[in-house]
Amino acid sequence: PALFGPDRRNSRGWELTHGPDLAEIEAARAPHRAARFEAVPLIAGTALPDEVLELRNPADPRDVVGTVSPASAADVDRALAAARPWDADPATRAEVLRRAADLYEDHFGAIFAIVAREAGKSLPDAVGELREAVDFLRYYAGQAETLDAPPRGVFACISPWNFPLAIFTGQVSAALAAGNAVLAKPAEQTPLIAHYAVGLLHEAGVPRDALQLLPGDGATVGAALTADPRVNGVAFTGSTETARIIARSMAENMAPGTPLIAETGGLNAMIVDSTALPEQAVRDILASSFQSAGQRCSALRCLYVQEDIADGFLKMLTGAMAELRLGDPWDFSTDVGPLIEAAAKEDFAAYIAKARAEGRVIWEGDVPGAGHFLSPTLIRVPGIAALEREIFGPVLHVATFAADEIDAVIGAINATGYGLTFGLHSRIDDRVQHVADRLAVGNLYVNRNQIGAIVGSQPFGGEGLSGTGPKAGGPHYLARFTARPAPALAD
Ligand code: SER
Repeated sequence: PALFGPDRRNSRGWELTHGPDLAEIEAARAPHRAARFEAVPLIAGTALPDEVLELRNPADPRDVVGTVSPASAADVDRALAAARPWDADPATRAEVLRRAADLYEDHFGAIFAIVAREAGKSLPDAVGELREAVDFLRYYAGQAETLDAPPRGVFACISPWNFPLAIFTGQVSAALAAGNAVLAKPAEQTPLIAHYAVGLLHEAGVPRDALQLLPGDGATVGAALTADPRVNGVAFTGSTETARIIARSMAENMAPGTPLIAETGGLNAMIVDSTALPEQAVRDILASSFQSAGQRCSALRCLYVQEDIADGFLKMLTGAMAELRLGDPWDFSTDVGPLIEAAAKEDFAAYIAKARAEGRVIWEGDVPGAGHFLSPTLIRVPGIAALEREIFGPVLHVATFAADEIDAVIGAINATGYGLTFGLHSRIDDRVQHVADRLAVGNLYVNRNQIGAIVGSQPFGGEGLSGTGPKAGGPHYLARFTARPAPALAD
């Protein structure tokens, strides 16, 4: 009841079509437009960085956003030796995490600026990023108060660049709420926002030996953390391939039964049948495929349109795609920002060139000159089986199906082995039920977009190749961070 009672608070929202709100955001961001940020290992005691790397804005590589000093294997060892579980009582831990949530909200200007410049987040994405982080802090704080189990000990939290504040904070705050010591390894592309967030968590009162930061790459920091028997649990969000490597290393080096909580990839589909409201479906497809430049594990990759409506529907869709504004995420009018790095752009260029040569590109637009931009692109495929891997960018594939082929479509989607998100646009209740009963996915959305799960309302996570569960932002998540998995908390 504490989770959803009268004390439940929404994170602060902004109205992004409202002049005064935009003016407030602009004023708060402005001091951080040209600032240089820093990320260094935050190890209880001292940090002795010996290498310094520059981080550049993916929308404009001339903009140096800051520097990072990667942690070494010796730093990981020192951090493990210094780590102490957070022994404050649950009510105190909850109070500190709520204070951190307030601090995050107070510092929205710096946070919007860093995630725009370091991670290419458009303003709506930056707002979503902050709100989700704040929701995680408050939600797990509420759960901590009702949790009656000891911590596991030391948790390694390994987080991705595509939600460099939200998922980073979600993992860390869950492990801390349960009373663990946390060693946080942010993605190598986005250590600056992680360093900033850890500063706020420490300021709120999280002890320095309960939360340490180890920026660096997977091969050094990730590998050392996931092979050390002093680690009692790992939370990981990233690729399915990396999750396999982590699971193997944990099995070889850690105590049997050490938990791995992994959220991994997806090959997500949507079905639009002939009864769908086309304007709504188009709007939801744009959000699902192109928001965050498609760099979400939840993003729509393969759209199935019923053949009876396909011609007109695809005209509407490509017409709407042509209106999307690709550009600097700092600009309020930008809909689609850059890819995270040059290598991703090169990878996509080759992928799209092949589809173009085969005559399968239905739509693509121009790209701005500097920066790692890729236009939203629509590619025809016979079905989802043609997608050999997760395509992590603004590339949507489309196939058509006949009315009597719906079960074959469901079978093809399930056969990918992934099971993260799925979208259905239909106004036939029986069909909705039929599809929902047969699809093996974690998050199924009907007549809406399929991204942006809300903490506490839409627990997020997949099955099969998409993750281990339990779902983040749901009632079962925190128990996995404790030594005695408690019965599910009441909704
Ligand atoms: N939770 C995000 C979403 O729902 C993905 O990580 O889009």
